[in-house]
Amino acid sequence: MEMQDMQTSGFSRRNALKLFGAGAGAVGLSTLGLASPADAATTVVPAANDAAFWRKVEQMFVLDKKILYMNVGTVGSPPRQVLDVVDAVHRQVARDAEAAYSDFADVRQAIAAAHGVDKDEIVITHNTSDGMSKALLGLNLREGDEILTTNHEHGGGNTPLAMLHDRQGVVIKRVELPIGDQQKAEDYVALFRAGITTRTKLIMFSAPTYLTGTMLPIRELAVLAQEHGIPTLVDGAHIPGMMNYNFRELGVDFLAASAAKWQCGPGGTGILYIRNRVNAANPNPLPEFWPIVSSGYPTDGSVDLRNRDQSQDIGKYLQSVGNGSKALNAGVQKAGEVWDQIGRQRIQDHIVGLGDHLKEQIVERWGASALYSAKSDARLTCALTGFNPFQNPADVKNSQKSADFVARLLDEYRIEIRNTSVPVIGDAAKHSPVRVSTHLFHQKDDVDRLVDAAWKLSKRMA
Ligand SMILES: Cc1ncc(COP(=O)(O)O)c(C=O)c1O
Repeated sequence: MEMQDMQTSGFSRRNALKLFGAGAGAVGLSTLGLASPADAATTVVPAANDAAFWRKVEQMFVLDKKILYMNVGTVGSPPRQVLDVVDAVHRQVARDAEAAYSDFADVRQAIAAAHGVDKDEIVITHNTSDGMSKALLGLNLREGDEILTTNHEHGGGNTPLAMLHDRQGVVIKRVELPIGDQQKAEDYVALFRAGITTRTKLIMFSAPTYLTGTMLPIRELAVLAQEHGIPTLVDGAHIPGMMNYNFRELGVDFLAASAAKWQCGPGGTGILYIRNRVNAANPNPLPEFWPIVSSGYPTDGSVDLRNRDQSQDIGKYLQSVGNGSKALNAGVQKAGEVWDQIGRQRIQDHIVGLGDHLKEQIVERWGASALYSAKSDARLTCALTGFNPFQNPADVKNSQKSADFVARLLDEYRIEIRNTSVPVIGDAAKHSPVRVSTHLFHQKDDVDRLVDAAWKLSKRMA
């Protein structure tokens, strides 16, 4: 690292050693070597493009080195610090036969602080799907009410939507999303605006979509919804650990996410944000909302959620559900601390930068039409990238060939990615592009290796 970088970033060798564990060979092994969250505020690490630094970060993970793992969008991999904490807490709980009838206030406080919100607005869930169900089924929706969503939603959101439809007669309307790099953020806003009616009671969308990796413009869509007095629910499965978003400033009402994908917390953990403030980013009243799974909701009639205000601790009500897992929640907190120490903006810059590099390489080799993700409008890009890897573009409609491509890339090139199945406007057949995740344990040469391998394999499969 250049001296100038050290000065401008305030790099502290002492803190870097704390993050990685003191001394060579101790990298990532020392849970206790991590600085406390309080220290983290002063812990500044090298620039996003410092290869040596990111190599050390990579060593914090136990991922099988024989495989280049690029499917974080399905599941991440906890760093050693997280594994150690989960293990230690699990053992302590077993030793002391300790129950946890708790609202996990400390954990929620730490996660809330990392995302610019308050503790009563955060719930540690089982995963994104859990958060989506809790959000959707907690709203007061009736027959004929409309939810405006997209045709690129995940089953974790589509399933509770189907239940609302089947049980309560809620009407699900879907905006058909374009694919590729033709559109700007404003185009998505226009699509949603055209779908709003007087019966629209919720706008729900994924950002990014898991099918293409396009980041829908959350803030812009939240503003549109606010103008019409409509609450918003974001399926933000991929956001924590990938994007350094301040949830409050996004101005949405609900954001359901995974803590086990990009945030690399323990499996079976998620983060649900529920707006519990009226503020500049969203001055609308809090929508009526019920904590549908709870043993912490007051049973004495003391709260009236039909008229919500911030005194009602919605996060606590939803978090308190019988005996919880201290170990998993401690793992989520530790994962958050590791990210805070490295720097969430640095991580975002590094991994979205790798995604940009990948998108450029795809355009160079396969041509711009191969991209299923957006590229030119930075508001729509992230660390997920979808593309058609085939020499004959029509092969993207052959789902078996796409599955074979993914399997052969793993078997023959030791690179793990996935494919998706995307509805495309104007085409009866779904498309099956592949999807690549670039994360903090990757470097530019990993991306180049993936591009080379995909190119060679596509030639061999032509
Ligand atoms: C956009 C989106 N939503 C929801 C999910 C479900 O995630 P989870 O396993 O955290 O419930 C996924 C998983 O890939 C996803 O990509």
